[in-house]
Amino acid sequence: MRSRDEQDAAATFSERYGRPASDATRELERLVIGGDFGANGYTTMAQADLIAKRLGLRGGHRLLDVGSGRGWPGLYLAKVAECTVVLTDVPELGLRTAQERAAVEGIAERSAAVVASARRLPFGVESFDAVVHTDVLC
Ligand SMILES: C[S@@+](CC[C@H](N)C(=O)[O-])C[C@H]1O[C@@H](n2cnc3c(N)ncnc32)[C@H](O)[C@@H]1O
Repeated sequence: MRSRDEQDAAATFSERYGRPASDATRELERLVIGGDFGANGYTTMAQADLIAKRLGLRGGHRLLDVGSGRGWPGLYLAKVAECTVVLTDVPELGLRTAQERAAVEGIAERSAAVVASARRLPFGVESFDAVVHTDVLC
């Protein structure tokens, strides 16, 4: 059973992720953070590059992005570092958008999306080499 916080997150962010992107929202995102992956926070492209560097991400690594929304920054990190990524979040809608973007980026085979709360992640120990979460309060 979902906690009140999880129910609130699912409702709030389902509504947000249900809004289609437009040329204007994509351009705004490019101007503000430098990319257009459908970010729903304040993490910039430059910060994502720094995350990749600090984590030492590379091909063969398995990355977990908790609270990934529409796949930012997990999809971007998987693309530039050539690693695999598992995206997790509570509302399914953002993850579906993320999967569509993964196909566009040519990384569908290296990405997966799982509806799961950060409170109860359904993964065993040592399933991942690195974990990211940006603008997520759990
Ligand atoms: C501000 S958005 C950030 C999304 C994305 N990381 C980004 O930077 O664009 C916060 C995200 O955290 C997710 N979230 C909130 N509570 C969560 C929880 N308990 N487990 C997993 N995700 C959660 C929300 O559904 C939402 O997608």
